[in-house]
Amino acid sequence: MDLRLRGSDPTPAERATVDLFLLSSGVSEQANGRAANTGHEARAHRHLLLPALHSLQDEIGWISEGALSYVCERLTVPPADAYGVASFYALFSLRPRPPLVAHVCDDIVCMKKGAEDIIATLQDKLGPESSEEGAATWLRSPCLGQCERAPALLWQRAGSDDRSHAPASSEAVGRLLADGLFDAPERGTAPQTETPRDPRLRLLRRIGLVDPTDLDDYRGHGGYSALRRAVRLGPEGIARELADSKLMGRGGAAFPIGAKWDAVAKAPVRPHYVICNADESEPGTFKDRILMEEDPFALIEAVTIAGYATGAERGYIYIRGEYPLATHRLEDAIAQARARGMLGGNVMGEDFVFDIELRRGAGAYICGEETALINSIEGFRGEPRNKPPFPTQVGLFGKPTAINNVETLFNVLEVLAEGGPAFAGIGTKDSTGTKLFCLTGAIAKPGLYELEFGATLRELLDLAGGVTEGATIQAILLGGAAGTFIDTSDLDLPLTFEATRAASASLGSGVVHILDESSDISAMLLRIAAFMRDESCGQCVPCRVGTVRQEEALQRIVAGRKNASGQDDVALLADLVRVMSDASICGLGFTAGVAVKSALERGLLTPQGSNS
Ligand SMILES: Cc1cc2nc3c(=O)[nH]c(=O)nc-3n(C[C@H](O)[C@H](O)[C@H](O)COP(=O)(O)O)c2cc1C
Ligand code: SF4
Ligand code: FES
Repeated sequence: MDLRLRGSDPTPAERATVDLFLLSSGVSEQANGRAANTGHEARAHRHLLLPALHSLQDEIGWISEGALSYVCERLTVPPADAYGVASFYALFSLRPRPPLVAHVCDDIVCMKKGAEDIIATLQDKLGPESSEEGAATWLRSPCLGQCERAPALLWQRAGSDDRSHAPASSEAVGRLLADGLFDAPERGTAPQTETPRDPRLRLLRRIGLVDPTDLDDYRGHGGYSALRRAVRLGPEGIARELADSKLMGRGGAAFPIGAKWDAVAKAPVRPHYVICNADESEPGTFKDRILMEEDPFALIEAVTIAGYATGAERGYIYIRGEYPLATHRLEDAIAQARARGMLGGNVMGEDFVFDIELRRGAGAYICGEETALINSIEGFRGEPRNKPPFPTQVGLFGKPTAINNVETLFNVLEVLAEGGPAFAGIGTKDSTGTKLFCLTGAIAKPGLYELEFGATLRELLDLAGGVTEGATIQAILLGGAAGTFIDTSDLDLPLTFEATRAASASLGSGVVHILDESSDISAMLLRIAAFMRDESCGQCVPCRVGTVRQEEALQRIVAGRKNASGQDDVALLADLVRVMSDASICGLGFTAGVAVKSALERGLLTPQGSNS
C-alpha cells in the first residue's frame, strides 16, 4: 500500500510535530507503518488519527499534503481515508492559513448581539473571510457555546493555546489585532446565582465556590464522597439506586440511565467502555461548558463511577474543540486525579482500575450524536451509524459502551449523595431531579439556571429578572436549533419532559431563547437552516438534499420570490420536514426541519425585514 500523497513531503517542523505527538502517545518507530504495514497495525493506531491531526493544526496552523502523508505513513492509514477525515472537521484547514484565526459566532444569539459589527471590523482590518495571506484571518462560525456572554469569538492560534473571547466587541477585537495581547489567563463564567446562594441548587452547588484547579478544595466541598458511596454499594447497589431515581439522560433523548448502565454492566463481551459526551454544539447551549470549566473534578468523579458501575476500565471524555478553557481544566484535573490515586490502578485504594482519556472534537455538530462520536474517537469521519445495534451492545471499538451527557453524569453524583428514592422525590413523577436551562436573548440576566423539574417557564424568567426592560416577547425558542417556538400563552408550561412533549415541544438541551419584537425570526430561521445544511454529514439523501432544499425554499419565502417550478414553497417545506424526519438515519435529519415547521405553524415566518 502506498501511503504517500503524490509528490508531498513533510517539512522538518511537521515531521517533528507528528513524531513528538506519537512519542507522547507511546507509538514507537518500530511499531508504526514503515516497519509493519499490516492490517493489525492500521487498526491499532487508527484511533490516534484525530489527535495527530490536532497536533499539526495546533502547532503548524494548517495540515499540508506532506504532513497528512506523513501521518498516514506513521499510522498506517490510507491517504484517501485520512483526507476524508481531515476534511470533515471545520477546525482543520487543508489550505495554508495565517497563524491567527478569529472564528466569529454569527449564530442565533450572537447575531442579535453585534456579531455583524465585529465581522465588519475584521473584514476592514484583515480583508475577506478565510484569506490565506497575512498574519491573521477570520471565519464565520456556528454557536461557540458562549451564548450567555454573546457576542463570542474563538481565537485559534498556531503554536499557542486557543482562546475564547466573550463578550467581544469591535473595539476589543481591533485592540487585540493591534497589540496581540492574550496574556491574561482566560476566565470562566460562574452562572447567575443569587446571594445568598439558593439552597435548592444541586448541580450548580459548588460552582463559583470551589476552586476548579484544586483537587483538595473539591474534596473539601464533599468531592469524592459519591465514589466512596458507590464502592460501598457495589455495581448492583448503584444500579438499584439509579433505577429508583428514575434519572433520565439530559443529552436530548431522555433515556433512563439505569437501563443503559445495566445493559453494559451485564454484557458478556469485554472490555467495556464509558464515554462522556461533552460535544455540546446545539446552538444556544452552554451548560456543559460551565460545569466543566467550574467543577471539572466532579465530572472526573462521575465518569469514574460510570466505569466502576459498568465494569469498564477506560473512559473517554469527548469535548468539543471550541472549548479551550474547559479542555485545559479537565486535562489538569485528570492529571491531578491520576497523581493522587483517584485514577489508574487501585482507584482510591479500592480494588478497581480506571483511567480517563480526553479527546477533542474538531468542529462538527454531528459528532454529538453518540455513534458519530464513537466513529470520531476511532479515527473515522463523524458519521452516525445505523441503530441497532446500540452502543450498549456494539459501541466503541465494537465493545459494549455507556455514553452519557455531562449534565446526566453530574446528576449521578446527586443520586448517590441523596439516594435514589429521595432523588425521585424531586421534580415530577416522570421528570425527576433538577434541570439546567441556558437562558438567552431579551432577558435581564442571561445565564445558566437550575430549577426543579415542574417549575414553569414564568418562574424561570422571573428568576432571571424578567424580560429586558421595555421589551415584549414575540416568541421563545425552546430546545435550540432543533427546537420549537412557543409564545407567551405557554408561560405556565411546566418545564418537564412530559409536559413539553404534550405541547409538541421539547426541552432538548435546555435552551430557552427569548425573542422580543425587534428579533428578526426570518433571519434566525435562515441561520438555523444554513446550520443544518452545513452540519448534515451527507451520508443519507433525505437529510443531505432535504437540508439544502429547505434552505432554498426558506430563502425564497423570506425574499418574497416564487418557486420557478410553480410549487408552493410552504407546502414544499412541510413535505421536506416530513421526509427528513421519516427517512433519515439519525436525529439531525429527524429534527432538521422542526424549528421551521414550528415557525410556520405559529405564523412567525415573514418576508425579510417586515418584522424588524
Ligand atoms: C445531531 C445530534 C447532536 C447531539 N449532540 C449531543 C451533544 O452535544 N451532547 C450530548 O450529550 N448528546 C448529544 N446528542 C444525543 C446523543 O446522541 C446521546 O443521546 C446522548 O449523548 C446520550 O446521553 P444521555 O443519555 O446522558 O442523554 C446529540 C444527538 C444528535 C442526533
Ligand atoms: S440524517 Fe443527516 S446527519 Fe444523520 S446520518 Fe443522515 S445525512 Fe448524516
Ligand atoms: S456563542 Fe454565539 S450563539 Fe452561542
